[in-house]
Amino acid sequence: MPVVSGSSARVVAEGLADEIGWQHHSLEARRFPDSEGYVRVPAQSIEAIRSEAVVLVATTFPDQVVLETLFMLEAINDVRRGELSSLRDGLVESSDVGPGIILAIPYYGYSRQDKRFQPGEPVTARFLARVLSRGCDGLVLLDLHAQEAVTGISIPVALTSAMPEIASHIRTTIEPDYILSPDEGAIERARAVAEMIGVPFSHLEKRRIDAHTIEHTPKDLDVKGKVVVIVDDMISTGGTICKASDALRRQGATAVHAACTHGLFTGGAIPRLASHVDGVHATDSLPNPRAVVSCAPALARGVRQVLDELAAHDQESLVA
Ligand code: R5P
Repeated sequence: MPVVSGSSARVVAEGLADEIGWQHHSLEARRFPDSEGYVRVPAQSIEAIRSEAVVLVATTFPDQVVLETLFMLEAINDVRRGELSSLRDGLVESSDVGPGIILAIPYYGYSRQDKRFQPGEPVTARFLARVLSRGCDGLVLLDLHAQEAVTGISIPVALTSAMPEIASHIRTTIEPDYILSPDEGAIERARAVAEMIGVPFSHLEKRRIDAHTIEHTPKDLDVKGKVVVIVDDMISTGGTICKASDALRRQGATAVHAACTHGLFTGGAIPRLASHVDGVHATDSLPNPRAVVSCAPALARGVRQVLDELAAHDQESLVA
């Protein structure tokens, strides 16, 4: 089965192809001088993309990549449908090979815009998922910030997680005594990591004042003399982690590390984190200087889940 990618997630796509023993194909993705995007399925990949189900690995961050992802879905759909109308050198006959496009998104940009905080705002995370789902037959999302983004999506969706790989990495490199979720949103992920390692777990309550300012409700944590890892889905400015780390150190933690799936590290986050925590551990869901865990195994689990759901659906259609 082919695993294809454009400019946004080539390393992850190659890792996924290796993980599941499929072949990676690079799509052509470049920019015109005026910055408009151009994508193309190269001639040597057309047969592979028409012969079996195909996995497109692409992110939706930053903005330009959202369009690239949509254009790649359109190109793959056209290739699979045999759609060659408007071809400059004349029409070539080709058949429709049917559904079978899985979009695997290592980092789903816009995932935090999952609620309407004021009248007049769009729920951008849900809108984007709806638009993307029109171009594929199954979606795989890695450590999605909140499930609300995929509410009402009618194709199979696998919400996969890199927490097993993160747990395994921190168990061997840090040997933590305690896991902390810095807010209520990360409780399930952090709890899963704590259970996999077999150490206690707690969480903080966080209130976001604005994009750069957060407040934690004070809470007694049993961390005196302990090595603690704060686990979150993503680190952006680092503000959440730094505040949580300060609370842990005030209560006697001897070492504090941060682990996340998505290392955005915006606006000076790396030096800010360096002055608050002993180490930062992220996956390679998007390129970042702290990517020490591969997200390919987690994506592979998601792809298998979607393939199973599509196969079960085909069986049901045959029986009906
Ligand atoms: C929000 O709830 C997320 O799970 C993260 O905690 C948040 O996005 C981290 O942002 P920052 O690093 O800017 O505090």
